[in-house]
Amino acid sequence: MERTLSIIKPNAVKKNVIGEIIGRFEKNGLRIAAMKKIWMTKEEAKGFYVVHKERPFYNDLTNFMSEGPVVVMILEGENAILKNREIMGATNPANAAPGTIRKDFAENVERNAVHGSDAPETAAFEIAYFFSALEIM
Ligand code: CMP
Repeated sequence: MERTLSIIKPNAVKKNVIGEIIGRFEKNGLRIAAMKKIWMTKEEAKGFYVVHKERPFYNDLTNFMSEGPVVVMILEGENAILKNREIMGATNPANAAPGTIRKDFAENVERNAVHGSDAPETAAFEIAYFFSALEIM
């Protein structure tokens, strides 16, 4: 059993496809252990993506992630981190396989519809960034 942090990004929330995206997680055997809709400030988005602070896209990415509401979730299941990454598809939708969330809902590498933790250490940091123990089922 493993947990991973998932975010439905502002562009996907705007497209009104929250339910469709969550359905894909559930159909693939992942369970939602916690979930909320929030609107991050620029500072909160910067804190979340601090690992990318030296990257050229850091400023644009954190502007995008604070432009509107997002849905943050903890997904739980066997190999949840890898399974979530497979369901999402490649970071750049141009390289994403058919049937993946990013292929279907992303506009480009930045506005790529969803985020998912990439390793157990990042999952632990990202889950704790948004959720307290009392909020996790
Ligand atoms: P995400 O899974 O949220 O993790 C980091 C994000 O940075 C990534 O998805 C993309 O949205 C963004 N990103 C990664 N590479 C680039 C890039 N070359 N240009 C713009 N944004 C990027």
